[in-house]
Amino acid sequence: MSAERAAATVTDFRGRRVTIVEVGPRDGLQNEHAQVATADKIEFVNRLSAARLPVIEVGAFVSPKWVPQMADAAEVFAGITRAPGIRYTALVPNLAGLDRAMAAGVTEIAVFASSTETFSRRNINQSVDASLAGYKEVCDRALAAGVRVRGYLSTAFGCPFEGDVAPERVADVAARLADLGVFEVAVSDTIGIAHPGQVPRVLDAVLARLPASRVALHFHDTRGTALANVLAALPYGIATFDASTGGLGGCPYAPGAAGNLATDDLIYMLDGLGIETGVVLENVSEASAFIASKIDHALPSRYAQAYRASRGT
Ligand code: HMG
Ligand code: MG
Repeated sequence: MSAERAAATVTDFRGRRVTIVEVGPRDGLQNEHAQVATADKIEFVNRLSAARLPVIEVGAFVSPKWVPQMADAAEVFAGITRAPGIRYTALVPNLAGLDRAMAAGVTEIAVFASSTETFSRRNINQSVDASLAGYKEVCDRALAAGVRVRGYLSTAFGCPFEGDVAPERVADVAARLADLGVFEVAVSDTIGIAHPGQVPRVLDAVLARLPASRVALHFHDTRGTALANVLAALPYGIATFDASTGGLGGCPYAPGAAGNLATDDLIYMLDGLGIETGVVLENVSEASAFIASKIDHALPSRYAQAYRASRGT
């Protein structure tokens, strides 16, 4: 690619807006073996609010038997300071979860389906069809109560149990999820296997069924390709990306799934491209350092590592 062409490509993105969905307190912490104190979760969310992240997934109202780390979701919601203009969301697997979320004052939830049968059974103990039938009830009740619903679609780029997944299969389940009334489908790379050669193939199939405005992308960074995947998706008009501060994360029911794309790294790249996010990177770094001090291992975000090194900490 010539220098002129490279410059034109970058210029194309200037002035665009991207929404970052911060999933660190949920997707990040759900995979931590050591229990993080409720007060520390609350402080983490408050620091993410200070960074002006527009959407923060605070927790999950799933079975505490399945994911013990999320058992205190209601207490976390009760303790956080909700900043105006920020959406605070939660994962919900069933009607019991919806009831708990609504009792905690949650006004936006996410249901989570899978592109593949085996992952669906391992993650929520149901077939894909049964899960969509259950989510229809959740969506109907939530929407009637004025609660917005997002839909995740796991294993969209590959499954830890079934391997390759046909893009048409992904597009089909995405369309069925959208038909339930979710406002957007987060097409998810559960095990961080996607690469920039594959992203266009999946997007071509999904965007044949849904407008780009209803599609978000959720990358894990297991193989170091998450940022490159975002760059590959931007020309398609995708404007919502999930990320977790520090690169915390993984799915407890997806062997080998590593952290999400790090919010710190994503903001650094988007800022460099002239894309507006409204997020304050310095404050993300502070939140990243805070949560790193509450877990028993280093966080993978490269930006966070550089930030710490530059401050001699
Ligand atoms: P089950 O065992 O088939 O269902 O679990 P059950 O109805 O028999 O429930 C088992 C027990 O949990 C019962 O308690 C229920 O009452 C209770 P018991 O009678 O044994 O005392 N229970 C609940 N408690 C609180 N809140 C609830 C709830 N539901 C049931 N909502 C179920 C089925 C769906 C509940 C279970 O499989 C589950 O909770 N799975 C969630 C797993 C999970 O959270 N995975 C990680 C999130 S997904 C993810 O990370 C992917 C994503 O990031 C995108 C990507 O990267 O791909 C979103
Ligand atoms: Mg995930």
